[in-house]
Amino acid sequence: MNTEPGTNRTQHPEPRTRHAAPGTRHPICVAVIPGDGIGIDVTAEAVKVIQATGEVFGRRFELVMLPWGADYFLETGISVPPNGHAMLRDEFDAIFMGALGDPRVPDMRHARDILLGTRFELDLYVNHRPVKLLDARLCPLKDRGPEDVNFVAFRENTEGLYVNIGGRFKAGTPDEIAVQEEINTYKGVHRIIRHAFEHAKAHGQTKVCMSDKSNALTFGHALWQRVFGEVAAEFPGIEPVHLYIDALTMQMVKNPAQFQVIVTNNMFGDIVTDLGAQLQGGLGMAASGNLHPGKTSMFEPVHGSAPKYAGKNVANPIGAILSAALMLEYLGCAREADAIEAAVRTAVQTVNGPAEIGGSLGTKETGDFIAAEIKKTNTERTRK
Ligand code: IPM
Ligand code: MN
Repeated sequence: MNTEPGTNRTQHPEPRTRHAAPGTRHPICVAVIPGDGIGIDVTAEAVKVIQATGEVFGRRFELVMLPWGADYFLETGISVPPNGHAMLRDEFDAIFMGALGDPRVPDMRHARDILLGTRFELDLYVNHRPVKLLDARLCPLKDRGPEDVNFVAFRENTEGLYVNIGGRFKAGTPDEIAVQEEINTYKGVHRIIRHAFEHAKAHGQTKVCMSDKSNALTFGHALWQRVFGEVAAEFPGIEPVHLYIDALTMQMVKNPAQFQVIVTNNMFGDIVTDLGAQLQGGLGMAASGNLHPGKTSMFEPVHGSAPKYAGKNVANPIGAILSAALMLEYLGCAREADAIEAAVRTAVQTVNGPAEIGGSLGTKETGDFIAAEIKKTNTERTRK
């Protein structure tokens, strides 16, 4: 946990530390918000897999379930309880979310408060979305394999078109005027672009592609151009590449192998990461982390709540399980994260998974397979 003096944090019997050494006695404390629809189904499997790594590697996880979601909102009128975001920030090492969205709440009020609210209130400015194909069979592109589809997209996560600044004038009439402002700040653009370069440098990557629409959005995206130039100059070993967003989507399909790191704004990042998810085999495969480096961060699969499939044991839990791996990696549990990724890879390659990967397992059975695989592969080694 962040323990800088002066912050009013709840006292714990033992101090919890992020990036705790392997074998630490201190539990890692995670707030789990399954949310709505298939979010509930896939979160159960992510939890199962986290617990499997706990058993194998001897680390304690304290997983605290929070009921926030449509049912709770409809019963109580509360989306996020008072001080709920401060509680997430101050009392947990990380947050795991399933998915939010329910047709009974047509304006998505609760989802906005819970999901977007957490991103904004905890200032989780990095939306980290890996695009990693695990098996050529899953790629919709002809003759493309895992070596061609392996990059990470960084989506700015706290400003852009998502800030909810604007309004409607004469709403519902033929004269309606609707304004939705796109906010781009120097600070916001700088920190996400810098994060992309730092990630590239730390991972031995040689290129960062920034995507905007500065040929049409001549004010807001001129700022992206300026900042990209400034930050790139600080990283001489990394080639800065620029693509307009329309060209980026075309290139992602034409030749995804050219990409290592992509950085873009909130709206464009939302769109290109759905495209990225499909390159890895579908929306159910894609993982994400909403980060403020060094602080309590939130992890969730990229997919939505898919109410139609809720509770039917058909949803693909792999995106949620890989999000749990991202979370553990962020928390300094690299062995656990690697074990999950290896087990998922085996599940995909042996077709032990749901229909989305061509298999015949249900959501639960996929989670069982991955958890068992983690135990089978790692137990002998850790006992020695
Ligand atoms: C995502 C989702 C959300 C977003 C929705 C549910 C508001 O599509 O996480 O990609 O647009 O950020
Ligand atoms: Mn999206």
